[in-house]
Amino acid sequence: MRKAIVLISGFGSAAVIAGALYFSADLNPAEASVDQSDLQVIANGKDLYNQFCASCHGEDLKGQANWKVTKADGRLPAPPHDKDGHTWHHSDEVLFKYTKGGGASLGLKDFKTGMPPFKSMMNDTEIWSTLAYIKSRWPDKHRARQAVATEQAK
Ligand code: HEC
Repeated sequence: MRKAIVLISGFGSAAVIAGALYFSADLNPAEASVDQSDLQVIANGKDLYNQFCASCHGEDLKGQANWKVTKADGRLPAPPHDKDGHTWHHSDEVLFKYTKGGGASLGLKDFKTGMPPFKSMMNDTEIWSTLAYIKSRWPDKHRARQAVATEQAK
């Protein structure tokens, strides 16, 4: 429970790595990441984001209101994916696996997730492209910080 909360609230890189260890091996990407600076990839990712993610995380990536406060049903609202959220605190591996497996992939029985798994709806390239679009919306400084998190997680 505690580690999942740290993962989704994104503070403390050691805890995020500990959280990442909960992911099962079947969430490993079979396809390598795409070129995240490729404008065509980003455009495809934008379409995918609008199709699969925007209903909860917002077309503007702003997430849902009061996203840090657990709702009456025990679930968190969808967090923003722009620079005001914590998505940019997480390594590529964590972002990819959380998207592919959803919150349930953490395997924590006390954690009620509102984030569905996308593995039956999107292939790995589509997930990477969606993440490339999200990243394209961050300021350079945030993108650079997230790249460091990705390197440290290797
Ligand atoms: C049905 C609503 C819903 C949809 C659709 C959805 N999410 Fe989420 N997402 C959530 C919620 C709620 C959380 C908060 C954590 C939790 O409940 O597991 C979350 C958390 C996340 C996280 C971890 C937190 C963070 O900021 O790093 C990532 C990454 C993420 N979502 C990516 C995506 C992507 C990419 C898509 C589209 C492919 C998507 N989500 C679609 C509801 C949703």
